[in-house]
Amino acid sequence: MTQIDDVLAHIDANIDASLARMEALVRFKSISTDAAFKDDCRKAAEWLAASLQDIGFDGSVRETSGHPMVVGHDGDEGEKPGPDVLFYGHYDVQPVDPLELWNSDPFGPAIIEKDGVKMMTGRGTSDDKGQLLTFLEACRAYKAVKGSLPVKVSILLEGEEESGSGSLLPFLEANKSELSKDLALVCDTTMFDPETPAITTMLRGLVGEEITITAADRDLHSGSYGGPAANPIRVLARILADLHDENGRVQIPDFYDGVPELSPEVKAQWDSLPFDGDAFLGNVGLSIPTGETGYSIYEQISARPTCEFNGITGGYTGDGFKTVIASKASAKLSCRLVGQQDPHAIRKNLRAFIKARVPADCSVDFAEHGASPAHSLSPDFAPLKQGAKALQDEWGKAPIPMGMGGSIPIVGEFKSILEMDSLLIGFGLDDDNIHSPNEKYNIESYHRGIRSWARVLAALAE
Ligand code: BES
Ligand code: ZN
Repeated sequence: MTQIDDVLAHIDANIDASLARMEALVRFKSISTDAAFKDDCRKAAEWLAASLQDIGFDGSVRETSGHPMVVGHDGDEGEKPGPDVLFYGHYDVQPVDPLELWNSDPFGPAIIEKDGVKMMTGRGTSDDKGQLLTFLEACRAYKAVKGSLPVKVSILLEGEEESGSGSLLPFLEANKSELSKDLALVCDTTMFDPETPAITTMLRGLVGEEITITAADRDLHSGSYGGPAANPIRVLARILADLHDENGRVQIPDFYDGVPELSPEVKAQWDSLPFDGDAFLGNVGLSIPTGETGYSIYEQISARPTCEFNGITGGYTGDGFKTVIASKASAKLSCRLVGQQDPHAIRKNLRAFIKARVPADCSVDFAEHGASPAHSLSPDFAPLKQGAKALQDEWGKAPIPMGMGGSIPIVGEFKSILEMDSLLIGFGLDDDNIHSPNEKYNIESYHRGIRSWARVLAALAE
């Protein structure tokens, strides 16, 4: 067995420098969905490429039609045992709005202590800058102590994960032989709870869609025209309301095609998990689940598909009041997919469902925002065992194989284009506020995340 106590001790001794590098990365306002932050995305990519070079990789910024990728291969050419791996993370982040709900500057990272827990605050600390750095810092420590990594490592860092990964497919196709390795390692998921690590074995897919209803050819006075004039907000609200029944079931035709029922073994394993659904909702100020009746909260977020509304606009939303019938109203929605649900069929059926409900006087336009199928890993996948052993050694507890509610579209593309399976290990927590104000990453997640990756790398070489 490879002895890595010296690597772990080096990680512990240098944690402040690792934290300083995390702060530096969080400072870049790399919001991929907003064109105003294009330069910030590039600067984050350049910083990462330079960091990779500093660690001993041939890090470079690689152009795409959108935000650049960062790619690096370990400069160490020697033969290595174990699989060649490609580590993936994303340096882009979600928008910060509503800014007024943040307790500190989203791009001015700070280390604070709350209820005895030390954490770094800032957009992207958990999703995914802190997480991707856990791997880079593990490589840095390994190389500093041992001179070389135990397996051959390449790194791919994306800048468009949070906005639909528009450039990813062509980039993977064009660089297939360079990026195709034996195994992908991904750090963009959560633990089961602060003490219990997890390996993600299921991820939901996603269909993102924006719909815009147009009625009159201009905004109208709601006194003069209200009544006879079609109101796009009313039309939109009725359509959105029709998308679910009173049991939380999605009403898009054939939506549930390809949704598997849980096997009795998995159901028994999940029922035995110490998952507290009341606390899960209670922590965010809720108490009544609104998903499909007949499924536990854990099933609803891990194994069932959804159709959610992520944004809705129309009419006057500024201060005060304006009596107007808007010409347009729109909504952004996302369906999370499981099993064999087909994202393209779902988009087609969703559009048909909406079109059938748009009155003759109104029109509808659609814009798509990404499509990816769900992903699941076979329990026989060998690196699961090595990963589990490494996590057990670090956390003193066996990791829980989990289904995550979120989506990481690249995992499907790694499989379909690069023929690689992914080992998904992450150290985020449910209360990290990802995609929400006051995002944070616990210092323990970061520190023990780095230690965990050092152990995973060593375990993969065994
Ligand atoms: N890190 C998340 C995915 C995630 C969320 C994993 C929660 C585990 C738990 C990732 O960065 C993400 O947010 N992905 C987007 C993808 C979408 C924009 C295509 C998502 O899930 O909404
Ligand atoms: Zn995210």
